[in-house]
Amino acid sequence: MIETVKKLLKILPQNDRGKLLILFLMMLVGSILEVFGIGMVPVFVSVIQDPDRLFEVRKLAFIWDLTGISDSRDLLVYGSVALVTIFLLKNAYMVFLYYIESKYIYKRFGIIASNLFDAYMNAPYTFHLRRNTAELIRNVTNESREIAYNVLRPILLMGMEIIMIISIFGLLLYVEPTITIIALVLLGGVGGVFLRLIKKRMRYHGKRALKERGRIIQIVNEGLGGFKDATVLNRQDWFIQRIQKTIHPLVKALTFRNITDKAVKPGIETIAISGMVLIAVLLLWQGRTVSAIIPVLSLFGAATIRLMPALRNFISQYNQLRYNSYAVNPVYDDLHELGFKEIKSAKSLNVNKADKLKLKRRIDLKNIYYKYPNSVDEVLKDVSITIQKGEAIGFIGPSGAGKTTIIDLILGLLEPTKGEILIDGVNVKDNKESWQSNIGYIPQFIYLADTSIKQNIAFGLPDDQINEDWLWEAVKAAQIEDMVKRLPNGLNTMVGEQGTQLSGGQRQRVGIARALYHKPQVLIMDEATSALDNYTEKFVLEAIESLRGKRTILTIAHRITTVQNCDMIYLIKEGQILNRGNYEELINSSEEFRRMNLLES
Ligand SMILES: Nc1ncnc2c1ncn2[C@@H]1O[C@H](COP(=O)(O)OP(=O)(O)O)[C@@H](O)[C@H]1O
Ligand SMILES: [Mg+2]
Repeated sequence: MIETVKKLLKILPQNDRGKLLILFLMMLVGSILEVFGIGMVPVFVSVIQDPDRLFEVRKLAFIWDLTGISDSRDLLVYGSVALVTIFLLKNAYMVFLYYIESKYIYKRFGIIASNLFDAYMNAPYTFHLRRNTAELIRNVTNESREIAYNVLRPILLMGMEIIMIISIFGLLLYVEPTITIIALVLLGGVGGVFLRLIKKRMRYHGKRALKERGRIIQIVNEGLGGFKDATVLNRQDWFIQRIQKTIHPLVKALTFRNITDKAVKPGIETIAISGMVLIAVLLLWQGRTVSAIIPVLSLFGAATIRLMPALRNFISQYNQLRYNSYAVNPVYDDLHELGFKEIKSAKSLNVNKADKLKLKRRIDLKNIYYKYPNSVDEVLKDVSITIQKGEAIGFIGPSGAGKTTIIDLILGLLEPTKGEILIDGVNVKDNKESWQSNIGYIPQFIYLADTSIKQNIAFGLPDDQINEDWLWEAVKAAQIEDMVKRLPNGLNTMVGEQGTQLSGGQRQRVGIARALYHKPQVLIMDEATSALDNYTEKFVLEAIESLRGKRTILTIAHRITTVQNCDMIYLIKEGQILNRGNYEELINSSEEFRRMNLLES
């Protein structure tokens, strides 16, 4: 519990401690008002019972002088008005307090979710390599809300209720010590036993539910993502079964959670009614007159009316906290790993974070070694490459040779375990963003968002920041101008989820246009045309060929024809450079290359 609170305080914005204090003080005022309201009830009852007695009280004489109230009828009227006014003011304040509290809570949800998403979006590539997206989605969409609404709120409410409960019992103890102590022992005993009984299971179910929430997203992703395969293979049942198996413990957890919550009210009600009866009996037993008992009973009655929900809320919130405290862990762990930096709420869009790191002469890879964080062996061993500005470079080799790893290193997504990558002598490591903003990257599968062609080309830019001239330059260079012009909606045509409205060749060329939009000096293609048929590939390659000389082009392919025209081809095998040279040179010098060439023709 203390652990949870500590982590929570780390997750919340740092200036929140002050805000929490203010909120707490407001709650304190609220509970004082509540107690005052309850205290008013027996006073009012005595007034109705015996108005004349009040006129005899010396200390109150000034009130009657001041207001001119002199008979019992006036007293009743004014007393009623005063009582109603006091309750009205008190409750107006309470509504205001609830508003402030809700606003605070839900704002925290927004802050935690955005901070977490910010952290994920700025995380190192290796972080995403080892994490399942389903979990990250769950943390941003679900767990941040759980933390705000079902961890932070219960703690605040419990604080408020406990102040309220103590204040009310304080008042009761002051007025009727003996009876209050008996009631206290009774309530405390029963409540304590109840909480002890369910504590362990509450934690168990909470932990379980957290895990299954992540798994559900994962299974739905896998099932829907592999929909075509699942249908053709008739394997839908396997996914459905997995969902059912995952949902089952969640259903059990939710049922348990709900019944323990619902059972609190009848439980407390039973205790309260028995308590009232017991108090009445005790009072009579003490030999008090009925007229003396009535104000006392009304005090206890009014107190019970307020205590019942307070106790119920306290127990509910306590259970809520136990059940949901696990939501804090994944969010805390990720923010802890990625850094607890806070984003400003109205951060202006920062598109060009860094000036481009200009390529003047050459790119050097110097004795690069690379090992993935979770792998045993080195994937790249002593790779040295020099690329002159304006050259077209090809990388070929069997799958798993390490080609993508080389590219991800050049892209600055990965950092070499040993060796360095220099741009005109400047280390990429220290200039990642400015280097990346000078690269156009085209992967094998272009990720297309379900928006227009235009927004997919100027990926991640708001409409009003899209430069139309740049857009059309990119469209022309990628050779999709004709296609776009033939579409009734032109660049505003929607591409469909994952670009299902476009053909494979069109998708790749939209990808090329995206890479070219921001006018990079370096163009990197990782199997960018591998999924295309030879005929379509030829068109896409033509688009790239037209950029020769103007840009430095790095192409990865597994077909020699794709890289045939390159100035320099590197043959990669088992993490090392086996041979290098242009097409003719390799044909003459490399046995392996000749074999690959023969297989293709
Ligand atoms: N995220 C990863 N974690 C561990 N090993 C990886 C990871 N990605 C790739 N590898 C391994 O690194 C080697 C090179 O992979 P890769 O660079 O993708 O090859 P290529 O692009 O030439 O097909 C392979 O043996 C592969 O299994
Ligand atoms: Mg690859």
